Amino acid sequence: MGMVGGGPDAFIGAVHRMAANLDGKIELVCGAFSRSADKSRQMSRQLALAPGRCYADYKQMFEQESWLPADQRMEFVSIVTPNHLHFEVAKLALEAGFHVLCDKPATLTLDEARQLAEIRQQSGCLYALTHTYTGYPMVVAARELVARGELGRIRKVVVEYHQGWLADTNASLGKQAAWRLDPAQAGVSCCMADIGVHAANLAEFICNDEIEQLSADLGASAGRVLDDDGVVMLRFAGGARGLLSASQIAVGEENDLRIRVYGEKASLDWSQQEPNSLRLMHANKPLEILRTATPQAAALGGITRTPPGHPEGYLEAFANLYRQFAEQVEARRKQGLPGKNTLPGIREALRGMAFIETVVAASASQQKWHPLPDLTQESNRGESA
Ligand SMILES: NC(=O)c1ccc[n+]([C@@H]2O[C@H](COP(=O)([O-])OP(=O)(O)OC[C@H]3O[C@@H](n4cnc5c(N)ncnc54)[C@H](O)[C@@H]3O)[C@@H](O)[C@H]2O)c1
Repeated sequence: MGMVGGGPDAFIGAVHRMAANLDGKIELVCGAFSRSADKSRQMSRQLALAPGRCYADYKQMFEQESWLPADQRMEFVSIVTPNHLHFEVAKLALEAGFHVLCDKPATLTLDEARQLAEIRQQSGCLYALTHTYTGYPMVVAARELVARGELGRIRKVVVEYHQGWLADTNASLGKQAAWRLDPAQAGVSCCMADIGVHAANLAEFICNDEIEQLSADLGASAGRVLDDDGVVMLRFAGGARGLLSASQIAVGEENDLRIRVYGEKASLDWSQQEPNSLRLMHANKPLEILRTATPQAAALGGITRTPPGHPEGYLEAFANLYRQFAEQVEARRKQGLPGKNTLPGIREALRGMAFIETVVAASASQQKWHPLPDLTQESNRGESA
């Protein structure tokens, strides 16, 4: 794997590297880690990369890696830069014949995501998007319970993603905050593009359904151009109603992502801060708590590495996405059939960008309901990883 972004003081690049390392299937061989060549070299030394595999920029990296013999060059690139670079880096990688694993949001605009779908199709390469929360074992179990009809018809979905790290509007909140609040680098939204899109993806993933229409109210704290808080009412294609609340100014909250799905027969409740438990609620019998690595969870597609009672979390969830991607890349290399996987791909890239743009437009409008664009045709271009 090669990496673009994830320099010395970056947040998610290091998480990606740890996750990629966890199963011994992936080796980081090259990178363009920063927009500063000095910092990129510093990162490369820290990671003990082979001399000559730290590139001045990602264009040079794709070009020079393509000249290497197949058994030496990177097979895929992990993109962990701020949002505004995702499209160009993914485009150049795909055009050079490299598979792409990109962090969310997929692009800066829906239009870019549409172009990406086409480029992906023409390239024939694999593309996956790291919506981290789809990698948690109990989220996969929740999806399976819904798919098996254990909850009955889904009637209501409540998904919340609350953080407090942008609450102080006077303090300097560091470079992670600076680019997220800058439309040129983040896109039309801060909060919804950063975490609201994870919440929407989680709801669609667990329910195996699509948000069809929405109504939104976003807020931006003093002096900010982009939203740092918002609520969205949802209508799903399958008939469920939903509520999505996302905030980065909820003082005291850490990474409080929680989803509740209410069906006709039963309901479920999962929280990222207690990720090894899935609460299953019934009308006429006691609360059930399903736990990771138990036979019950295994029967629902459990993907844990450690025995019951040995908690797994964020890094393992990311690693589950990397492991699935590595298996897809390997299958492709050996011209074998790709195995079953639950990786988000082009379809989710398009849906995420449609969600973000529709939420922002809805919040600025007096009209109550806003349909999400029909992306079926573009999604079909994305037989992803
Ligand atoms: N999936 C998740 O849970 C999750 C969590 C956090 C962030 N993210 C996403 O990951 C991405 C990065 O976020 P972050 O918080 O790590 O940002 P960050 O600011 O901490 O890191 C970004 C890195 O990209 C580098 N960079 C910038 N321009 C570059 C260029 N031209 N070439 C090479 N490197 C360049 C920067 O130098 C920095 O090292 C964002 O798109 C964000 O939305 C996803």
